[in-house]
Amino acid sequence: VSVVDNVHVGTPLSSGAACSPAVLSAVPATVQHRKLHHALIPKGKGGRSSSSGVAATVFGATGFLGRYVVNRLGRVGSQVVVPHRCDQYDVMYLRPMGDLGQIIFMEWDARNKDSIKRALEHSNVVINLVGREWETRNYHFEDVFVTIPQQIAKATREAGITKFIHMSHLNADIRSPSKYLRNKAVGETAVRDEFPDAIILKPSEMYGREDRFFNYYANMRWFGNAIPLLSLGKKTVKQPVHVVDVAKAIINAIKDPDANGKTYALVGPNRYLLHDLVEYIYAVAHRPFVPYPLPRPLYHLAAQIFAMSPFEPWVTPDKIDRFHTTDMKYPGLPGLEDLGIVPSTVEQKAIEILRRHRRFRYLEAELDETKPAKTVSH
Ligand SMILES: NC(=O)c1ccc[n+]([C@@H]2O[C@H](COP(=O)([O-])OP(=O)(O)OC[C@H]3O[C@@H](n4cnc5c(N)ncnc54)[C@H](OP(=O)(O)O)[C@@H]3O)[C@@H](O)[C@H]2O)c1
Repeated sequence: VSVVDNVHVGTPLSSGAACSPAVLSAVPATVQHRKLHHALIPKGKGGRSSSSGVAATVFGATGFLGRYVVNRLGRVGSQVVVPHRCDQYDVMYLRPMGDLGQIIFMEWDARNKDSIKRALEHSNVVINLVGREWETRNYHFEDVFVTIPQQIAKATREAGITKFIHMSHLNADIRSPSKYLRNKAVGETAVRDEFPDAIILKPSEMYGREDRFFNYYANMRWFGNAIPLLSLGKKTVKQPVHVVDVAKAIINAIKDPDANGKTYALVGPNRYLLHDLVEYIYAVAHRPFVPYPLPRPLYHLAAQIFAMSPFEPWVTPDKIDRFHTTDMKYPGLPGLEDLGIVPSTVEQKAIEILRRHRRFRYLEAELDETKPAKTVSH
């Protein structure tokens, strides 16, 4: 990677005078500030082959939201550093998202401070999307949601970078029954303390093609179409947000100089009872919807068995608690509209995710035949 050095010189010099030894000796010593990549000089018309002036390191780029963020960055001509811990062939789908050489892959280890430093040393924007829905033997929620974000925030501040975006959760709360959400709340505070100007984004549950929300419920048809819901899903209110809207929010927050230091609550335009939302998912998928109420301890017990899987668990007790938490309302926090985004509705986007869950004979069925889900205001 070629770099140009960003050099601070005390006095601006005209080209002729600059060569004079007398003038040079009068100029304060040249200070090498930070190594900045040539991609930081904006040029071009704004497309994939231009340069937006953004060089972003996206931690957690290999996840669900990551691919949308990398694509959005790439298509305006940004350079994106993708720290990853998987085989490089597993991230090849990210490579065409930017112009030649603009998506840079490097291995990182979240526990190695030097590798974090190395990943962001040529960037002027850092985005933290690291997350995990379940705990593993090596990484507990506290590591993923508190320690790693804190280390990234620290390294970002020490590198003199002024844009840091951290992804939290709408329902992050220290009193939540979900350990995931409790740690997200602690992580938010830790990041703010370490980097007061951080932009903290709090999305509700996100849906999109590769999600673990709509797909989770739609895949329950494998268990005989019977959908377990605590209290039949009638005591939980959800306000899901489309993943592309969240990715757009990240790009707009980078561009907006006033966004620094703010916390945004990113939600979709409508609130639904969980029961009605899952009913709509099944209606779009043209599958029978057979919900049944399952008491929390029993649902947890079943989930504990799945949670023992050494691979991605189908469900964990924590996920049950998180999905049955009513989405909080934050009237005081700015949202998608304040970042210039009109949020998409579930009715507009659900078909993109759910068409593949249909039987062949309904594959092309029109969406107009499906009654929209009832919205609620509480
Ligand atoms: N999905 C949602 O509905 C939702 C809602 C609200 C907030 N959020 C938050 O938004 C962020 C992005 O969500 P997502 O759904 O895109 O998450 P995701 O699909 O689970 O991806 C998480 C990313 O974090 C990386 N990661 C996890 N543990 C790591 C570790 N110990 N060391 C290094 N990398 C690690 C993963 O890398 P590997 O690929 O190597 O595992 C992956 O790139 C997360 O912080 C999540 O908590 C998500």
